[in-house]
Amino acid sequence: MNLSTAVGSVELPNPVMTASGTIGHGTEVSEYLDLSALGAVVVKSLSAEPWAGNPPPRLHKTAAGMLNSVGLQNPGVEAWVEHDLPALEARGARVVASIWGFSVEAYAKAASMLDEVADRLVAVEVNLSCPNVEARRDMFAHSPSATREVVDAARGCRRPRWAKLSPNVTDITAIAAAALDGGAEALTLVNTVMGMAIDLDRRRPSLGAGGGGLSGAAIRPVAVRAVYDCRQAFPDASIVGVGGVGSGEDAIELLMAGADAVQVGTATFFAPQTPLRVIRQLERWCRRHGVARVRDLRGAAHGQ
Ligand SMILES: Cc1cc2nc3c(=O)[nH]c(=O)nc-3n(C[C@H](O)[C@H](O)[C@H](O)COP(=O)(O)O)c2cc1C
Repeated sequence: MNLSTAVGSVELPNPVMTASGTIGHGTEVSEYLDLSALGAVVVKSLSAEPWAGNPPPRLHKTAAGMLNSVGLQNPGVEAWVEHDLPALEARGARVVASIWGFSVEAYAKAASMLDEVADRLVAVEVNLSCPNVEARRDMFAHSPSATREVVDAARGCRRPRWAKLSPNVTDITAIAAAALDGGAEALTLVNTVMGMAIDLDRRRPSLGAGGGGLSGAAIRPVAVRAVYDCRQAFPDASIVGVGGVGSGEDAIELLMAGADAVQVGTATFFAPQTPLRVIRQLERWCRRHGVARVRDLRGAAHGQ
């Protein structure tokens, strides 16, 4: 059974990674999860400077997932390189750093700060779901031109860039085209879906920031659709599917829609070992269905 896959030029031993922001910046969950057994570990998004994030409460459980408004809290690239990266390496993790910024220059700075550790990273994921302070705080990921500019500006990291896109757009293929044009080697699809919950007693939004991002099982069909549409539009692009994966079959659904690999996020909040269980279930499904190489599932739902 061959579980190996490739995301652009990056070869991975299996197609299951953690999703950014859901297992912390370093080895927070390594007591429960063997990080070296994963395809790769994507860490929580980092900015050039430390950032405190949003006021509490930041998490709210929903019927089939959760809302979060963590607000990209992080220690900054420098502290992460000093403390977290060595700890991840000591656990044998293949590390994907994720970056964000409030301006194109801020992304460029975060990317260039990773240049000195480029050979210790397998890739850099560029999280485009951030407010652009130079465009009335509209998200970079909502604009093709801003997306192209940011992905291009991040080239200073000297690693393959994966563009992580938002599903909160009219036509995700237009944004994906811009990301690829800006130099992205892969598309990571998708970030959270905009949402909100109201606390009836307080008669106010439940989350401290008001709105938040919906994730978990509830958004899996949204992710499947985004992956399917982008695979159809860009047959040769590398795609990482993320959204509501909690089992091997969920992962296979995204692979068949067109993903080369998947990420597991919210499901790890309920059971930190979930990504490893997904790998085991994926392998078992392939054996049972006579699939010798997991790569052969890529895009299977599109027919010939
Ligand atoms: C608490 C929390 C924090 C997150 N932080 C980030 C982040 O820092 N950067 C990012 O690109 N995505 C972040 N995400 C989005 C996830 O990486 C993922 O795209 C999304 O949750 C959908 O996958 P899931 O349903 O498996 O969680 C976060 C999600 C959650 C639930």
